[in-house]
Amino acid sequence: MVQADKKLTEPETSTIFDLNNYLKQQKALVERALDQSIAIARPEKIYEAMRYSLLAGGKRLRPILCLATSDLTGGTLEMAMPTACALEMIHTMSLIHDDLPAMDNDDFRRGKPTNHKVYGDDIAILAGDGLLAYAFEYVATQTKNVNPENIIRVVARLGRTVGAAGLVGGQVLDLESEGKSEITAETLSFIHTHKTGALLEASVVSGAILANASEEHITRLSNYAQNIGLAFQIIDDILDITATDEQLGKTAGKDLQAQKATYPSLWGLEKSQAKAQELVDSAIAQLSIYGAKAEPLRAVAKYIVTRDR
Ligand code: FPP
Ligand code: MG
Repeated sequence: MVQADKKLTEPETSTIFDLNNYLKQQKALVERALDQSIAIARPEKIYEAMRYSLLAGGKRLRPILCLATSDLTGGTLEMAMPTACALEMIHTMSLIHDDLPAMDNDDFRRGKPTNHKVYGDDIAILAGDGLLAYAFEYVATQTKNVNPENIIRVVARLGRTVGAAGLVGGQVLDLESEGKSEITAETLSFIHTHKTGALLEASVVSGAILANASEEHITRLSNYAQNIGLAFQIIDDILDITATDEQLGKTAGKDLQAQKATYPSLWGLEKSQAKAQELVDSAIAQLSIYGAKAEPLRAVAKYIVTRDR
């Protein structure tokens, strides 16, 4: 694999980047790949439950970030798409479990009844488990034209991201913090960097690993991802207060109802919005060396603070 450092440092040009069109195109590519990733087999019910949530729409931000980073660092669609799909499988399974009565007990997700509302708690738990296991199988068996060492690095990174050092750990602290008014900014930051930030960071980093990017680039792109990860969560907290159920495709106002500590509850809406903007500016600053080639990653960062759903 070629180390594409030289090619990466192109001068910035003033091309006008069409974000909406880019997101639409990338989302369509990801939707097609996700649809092809899981076929219905016996027992049909579990495959249907897995496909129900996986193909229910969503922003597909994690796969789009993985594809964009791979492209930026010299990778191809073929190299990155299986991991892009696996990231969405992991994200989807975490939402299926998060929505269960034992956790957030939510009835709607992505504009549709939640998985357990349609298939029951038992099948929803198993659909989550099935998607999680399949994500790893999918990366290991479907990734093409990447050296095996980098595939193992991606698998290891995903494992760490999902487990107690990542999503699971963040979710545990989130559950423990419900109803506690004395939660500190430090605890809140731990919850968000683990529950949300870790998978967004893994999306960016795995794209770079697959493209065989140097450690210097991986570190820089990690910093970009950490900043957009926190900004993403702050905007999520704001939207929970300001957006409607229809906009979000899920029940709005749940954080207040569950007495969850959020950034707006600590800082207020205005300061939270300003903080998100600051984080996005820092994320974009990490991309300056890449010039126009990083326009997709810049645009995704901007989208994170301007989105209304
Ligand atoms: C949504 O947060 C939930 C998450 C981002 C992840 C939750 C993680 C788990 C349930 C652990 C899953 C298990 C494995 C093995 C990965 P939220 O409730 O703040 O947002 P919401 O309003 O969209 O529900
Ligand atoms: Mg939830």
